[in-house]
Amino acid sequence: MSDRQDREFDIVLWGATGFAGRLVAEYFAAHYGEDELRWALGGRNRAKLEVVRDELMHEFGQAAKVPLVIADATDRPSLDEMAERTRVVCTTVGPYDKYGSKLVAACVDKQTDYCDLTGEVHWIREMIDAHHDQARENKTRIVNCCGFDSIPSDLGTLMVQDFAKREFGAPCRENKMFLMGAKGGFSGGTLDSMSNLMERLGKEPELRRVVGHPYSLNPEGEQTGPDGSTQTSVSHDKKADLWTAPFIMARINEKIVRRSNAVLGYPYGRDFSYEETTSTGKGVTGALRAAGLTAGLGAFAGLMALTPTRNLLRKYVLPSPGEGPSREAIESGFFRVKHLGRGISETGESFEVEATIAADSDPGYGATALMLAESALCLAFDECDDCTEGGILTPASAMGMALVDRLSDAGMTMEVGRR
Ligand SMILES: NC(=O)c1ccc[n+]([C@@H]2O[C@H](COP(=O)([O-])OP(=O)(O)OC[C@H]3O[C@@H](n4cnc5c(N)ncnc54)[C@H](OP(=O)(O)O)[C@@H]3O)[C@@H](O)[C@H]2O)c1
Repeated sequence: MSDRQDREFDIVLWGATGFAGRLVAEYFAAHYGEDELRWALGGRNRAKLEVVRDELMHEFGQAAKVPLVIADATDRPSLDEMAERTRVVCTTVGPYDKYGSKLVAACVDKQTDYCDLTGEVHWIREMIDAHHDQARENKTRIVNCCGFDSIPSDLGTLMVQDFAKREFGAPCRENKMFLMGAKGGFSGGTLDSMSNLMERLGKEPELRRVVGHPYSLNPEGEQTGPDGSTQTSVSHDKKADLWTAPFIMARINEKIVRRSNAVLGYPYGRDFSYEETTSTGKGVTGALRAAGLTAGLGAFAGLMALTPTRNLLRKYVLPSPGEGPSREAIESGFFRVKHLGRGISETGESFEVEATIAADSDPGYGATALMLAESALCLAFDECDDCTEGGILTPASAMGMALVDRLSDAGMTMEVGRR
């Protein structure tokens, strides 16, 4: 096996023909010249990849004339070969439960760092069980959830705790993330991943424990803590004086933040509590908005849970694989989340820390492409002293403050301070 530094590519972007992959390819082509980054477009279909490359060259010039790497999710030797040629595989081939397992195995065997956009909790658990020990031993970083789920959650918490320790000498005992505002759409690939999860839950009810248990991504024997289940109804947060509704991504994000704390050796404390919610504002308007949003989410979840209505929605209403929001919709999208951490300082006083993470682009696509691309670059080029060297990891545990700095340099709002 070649030394990692000597490999042909820094990054292979696998899934470049898909909706999210294409956006990540544009990000690399727009921001990195030929001499700055050795990257390749990966996928299963050469003709489709050539079309993507031609379009990139048309838009971004000769620097986008990058090599093509062919690998199919069903063909393990092709995945081994791809993994051996690069230092990092950045993958947008999903649903990951369907197409991702052999790639993770190949990357761990070939000691190739990896990042993805999965939000499939049950699949992450399967990868932890199958590969965490080997990846830890051979120092390979397999990093899940490098998009809107779960970077704002995981890095926001890291920023709050980093600040608390520097300013107050102790980490926050609790942190809560509020989605303050967002505008964005869905792609067919994301809906495919949701449908796939619903189908598996229907056939394998035991997976419900993994999806529902607050600590199911923690190591075996460490699946306890102060947190209960994710918010499912309207609530009023007294400390922030805000009405809140459930946040659709909380089920995955909360578990990722708890896993970060666990794999880093509990720097936030063993009793650290973390939750997420959607702020709908103050007063009667806030309460009414919370009720409307909760009802809408409940109806969508109900329709997606039943096979006949799910199939009807997918056929007539929702985008198909390969489709997603228009360019204008992506560019006019945005998101803003706020973290509110609380703790007791080393001198015994209560303190509060607030962090804001925001971006001026559709959270699941424009901003996600930026976050995934910068994660791949961070894995390829940055040092992180406080990070975990190998395993099935999270953004905070694998890349830490190095990724915070990168995202800030790339134009995202990443702010933290006293409240
Ligand atoms: N976390 C987040 O914030 C976030 C945001 C956006 C998307 N996502 C996730 O990202 C994933 C991709 O979404 P998307 O909308 O980009 O999906 P998509 O447009 O359907 O793209 C899927 C990609 O997978 C490739 N593929 C399918 N089968 C393959 C196989 N056997 N071997 C190799 N490649 C194969 C497709 O290649 P062909 O073109 O050759 O068919 C295509 O490039 C989904 O899992 C979605 O949930 C997450």
